[in-house]
Amino acid sequence: MNKLKITKVENSAASSVDFNNIPFGKIFTDHMYVADYIDGEWTNMEIVPLENLSIHPGNLAWHYGQSIFEGMKATRDAAGTPLLFRPEEHVYRLNASARRMCMPEFPKEAFLEAVHTLVRLEKDWIPPQEGSALYIRPFMIAMDSALGVRPSDTYKFMICTLPVGPYYPKPVKLKAEETYIRAAMGGVGEAKTAGNYAASLYPAKLAKAEGYDQIMWLDANEFKYIQEVGTMNIFFVIGDEVITPITEGTILKGITRKTIIELLKDKGYNVVERRLSIDEVVEAADRGDLKEVFGTGTAAVIALVDEIKYRDKVMYLDPSKFEVAPYAKNTINGLRNRTIEDAKGWVVEAGATVEA
Ligand code: COI
Repeated sequence: MNKLKITKVENSAASSVDFNNIPFGKIFTDHMYVADYIDGEWTNMEIVPLENLSIHPGNLAWHYGQSIFEGMKATRDAAGTPLLFRPEEHVYRLNASARRMCMPEFPKEAFLEAVHTLVRLEKDWIPPQEGSALYIRPFMIAMDSALGVRPSDTYKFMICTLPVGPYYPKPVKLKAEETYIRAAMGGVGEAKTAGNYAASLYPAKLAKAEGYDQIMWLDANEFKYIQEVGTMNIFFVIGDEVITPITEGTILKGITRKTIIELLKDKGYNVVERRLSIDEVVEAADRGDLKEVFGTGTAAVIALVDEIKYRDKVMYLDPSKFEVAPYAKNTINGLRNRTIEDAKGWVVEAGATVEA
């Protein structure tokens, strides 16, 4: 790897953080990675102390939404070695989002160098607690300062890192949404772009006022087929099948989703990716066949669901009886802290070949 330009802080703030009590998303580490896209190429790649940006009011990302991001996590093993999980998958997905949003792709080698170097530099910020991690937020925004609906000519790619605890410390309650939609075929549902999350805020606010934690989205044409949850993909255990909605263009292709499908198949579970209607879930619940519901995501990891509301029907689940979700959660967490052997080559030491 090339040596990046690195400017370090004089004193790290890591020791001032109580890792037993970390609110998600509020504490940033000492440094950040920045790169600029100018004249058709990525340049000025460096790691610098975390600081505010100075941005022109005409910034195109703010007005027309060219903004994409990723979510990754770094963990540590018992010896304190910083670890990354399937980092290449994130640059592939970042660049798929970039293509859809008419933004330049970021080179894979530079992405990996940035993540490895930054995480190695911030290794003292990786919380040792089970279920906690260093959240890695790569993102790209348009940087042109001129109004007009057109792709920007300039961009910034950045990575921030944040120590985080569990996103959902307790089981979640979901409301199946029948008024608002997340994404339609041909739209941007598959891209990890800021607007998808902005569009979820108002319906999620209404659901929260009714006592629900998140929306469970249904398809945009018939409000029939389950899509995903505001912050994660979703799995159902019905009878002896583990079912997750097939990603046909409107659903985010979760990397945790893909990982869990593979882990469960390896364990012998009958995992099926297909369309799943909300009626099928209701019928399964009435028959007593709806055994588990759980979400998967980088931030959420595995979130247990204990209630789903659809119209007047409320379906209750008992997470203390779940078997598939705890297996999935323990396995992914065990891989990530190297208490389970990684036969897949998914876990890589952060910055093993870089000095930071
Ligand atoms: C993630 O799971 O990393 C995400 O980006 C989802 C976000 C709601 C935190």
